[in-house]
Amino acid sequence: MKSRKWHDAYTARARKQGYPARSVFKLQEIQQRYGVLKKGGRILDLGCAPGSWLAFASRAVGQQGSVVGVDVSPVTMTLPENVRFIHHDVLRWDRAFLEALNGPFDAVLSDMAPSTSGNKFVDAQRSLGLCEAALEISIKVLRPGGAFVCKIFHGTDFKEFSDRAKQFFERLAHVRPMSTRKASKEIFVVGLNKKRATTASND
Ligand SMILES: C[S@@+](CC[C@H](N)C(=O)[O-])C[C@H]1O[C@@H](n2cnc3c(N)ncnc32)[C@H](O)[C@@H]1O
Repeated sequence: MKSRKWHDAYTARARKQGYPARSVFKLQEIQQRYGVLKKGGRILDLGCAPGSWLAFASRAVGQQGSVVGVDVSPVTMTLPENVRFIHHDVLRWDRAFLEALNGPFDAVLSDMAPSTSGNKFVDAQRSLGLCEAALEISIKVLRPGGAFVCKIFHGTDFKEFSDRAKQFFERLAHVRPMSTRKASKEIFVVGLNKKRATTASND
């Protein structure tokens, strides 16, 4: 059970550093490589529970910055002062939801994951649906020059999603953080420098 021990080591390290989940190390690596969270920045974190990315982003942007987190599940940890939580299903986003977000943002993060069915095809399709919603929201609320970080389960439509995301950013990268479990199909799409003249398909 080498992988289980490895998993626990990351979990233990996260707890020791005051984070509720090991997923923090994925954002930490992406931040080290691409610097998507800037001091004083405004960040949107989709699928933010239990709150590790919220806590990490809150520290990275500092008191002059702010973070808005959204999740269908509640966040039970005490939120830092510069973090606001919205309890919402991102798949049901609409104009009122976008207004409640109160953008624009310097970065949109999505670590959203569907509840897994055990069927890889079904899980990849559900993950794709969450990513498409995250991308559509990003197109609307990201300022030009902003960054997009989105977790996706690698399935048959991965390339199509990646190609679509590429249209909106000067640069697109794919990252599989070191802390990702070996058996996991997840990968992160990182869009850098959102282009100025882009519109969403449903505008
Ligand atoms: C891997 S967890 C996120 C962990 C988080 N980044 C952290 O570091 O604590 C995935 C989250 O996506 C959320 N999620 C899944 N589908 C969602 C949806 N339709 N709308 C909002 N959140 C969703 C789940 O409730 C879950 O909390």
